[in-house]
Parts: sequence; C-alpha cells; structure tokens
Amino acid sequence: MLKAKSVQASRVIRTDMVLPNDTNPLNNLMGGRIMHLMDIAAAISAQKHANRIVVTASVDNVSFGSPIQMGNVVTLEAQVTRAFNSSMEVFVKVFAENIPKGTKTLSNSAFLTFVAVDQSGKPIMVPEAIPETDQEKELFEGALRRRELRLVLANRMKPEDASELQSLFFGSAVPQPSK
Ligand SMILES: CC(C)(COP(=O)(O)OP(=O)(O)OC[C@H]1O[C@@H](n2cnc3c(N)ncnc32)[C@H](O)[C@@H]1OP(=O)(O)O)[C@@H](O)C(=O)NCCC(=O)NCCS
Repeated sequence: MLKAKSVQASRVIRTDMVLPNDTNPLNNLMGGRIMHLMDIAAAISAQKHANRIVVTASVDNVSFGSPIQMGNVVTLEAQVTRAFNSSMEVFVKVFAENIPKGTKTLSNSAFLTFVAVDQSGKPIMVPEAIPETDQEKELFEGALRRRELRLVLANRMKPEDASELQSLFFGSAVPQPSK
C-alpha cells in the first residue's frame, strides 16, 4: 500500500513573461502556447504526487476567457485534485498579471488527467491524494463525476456504469442496471 500524500505536496507554481515569439498578430499569447505551459505545469504536479514518469491521458475543455497580452506575466498554479488507481486529475489555473498596472486576472483553467507509468509505459499505482482545505475538498468531491464524464466521452466507460453522473442528473434513487 502506497503512503497517501497531501494535495498541497503536489502544488506547482510557474511564472513566465509573454514575449513576442509566443504571440499572435494581435500581440496576445497564442492558445497553443498556453496549453503547452498548462501541460508542463500539470505534468510536474502529477510527477510530484506520483514520484513516477507520467503521461498526459486527457485534457478537459479549455476555453480562453480573456486574452493575455505581450509583456504580461503568466502564472500557472497546478495541483492534483484526486488520485485514482494509476491516474490523477490535475487542476491548472492560468493568471495574467500586468505588474505596472497592478492587475491580475484569471485567464482560464482546465482539468488534465495524467497516468503514472513504469519504464515500459505500463500504468502503475499512485498514492491517494488527501485534500485538506475547503477548496481542495470541493475539487476532490467533483473529481469522480468529472472522471466518469471524460471516460464516457472517451468511450472507456459505459454511460450506464457512470453512477455519479446518473445520481447528479437523476438523483440517487436511480435503479442501477443489473450486471
Ligand atoms: C494513458 C495510457 C497510459 C493508458 O493506458 P491503458 O493501457 O489504456 O491503461 P488502462 O486502460 O489500464 O487505464 C489506465 C488509467 O488511465 C486512465 N485513462 C485511460 N484513458 C483515459 C482518458 N482518455 N482520459 C482519462 N483517463 C484515462 C484510466 O481511467 C485508468 O485510470 P485508473 O488506473 O486510475 O483507473 C495510454 O493510453 C497511453 O500511453 N497513451 C498515450 C499517452 C501519451 O502519449 N501522452 C502524450 C505525451 S505525454
């Protein structure tokens, strides 16, 4: 049995400055570059939790709420929300900061799933992640239904087996199909 670790221990904060090479013709940070930064911050967080090589299994919906301008400082905050068997859900928030103006806004956020693997790429067990703060507990609680949703969408789980989703939509009194 692997020793459980706190969510806090997986926390990663990464800061970069938006430079001309990273921008589109409107001088805003390109979406693909943001996703690259998110993938790296989240992978480091998952590695810290698992102490293993990790691979990205999926990235949930990413939408870009407000542009991040050239010269802004981009801060990414990543943490494991919940660990399952070999997989971990990681939540990443992206902030854009204009230091001279003294503004800092949340630009976007996403959930990514990583799988810990051995040297041959085979999935391997990870420790449990223990949430401590109210926000960590809220993210932990929601992780099960987000996992079901992404596995159903990836055709890796039958909708009728997604019990958390069913109880969300139809209440807990939904009769489960007999296996
Ligand atoms: C991710 C990967 C290791 C899963 O391997 P697999 O043989 O399908 O393994 P399994 O079916 O046993 O699933 C292993 C875990 O991955 C999770 N998983 C697999 N596909 C997933 C998906 N699309 N979304 C979320 N989780 C997924 C499973 O739920 C399972 O989690 P659990 O162990 O916590 O229950 C494999 O598909 C892979 O190597 N993919 C390529 C990864 C990659 O190249 N990423 C980009 C570069 S890092």
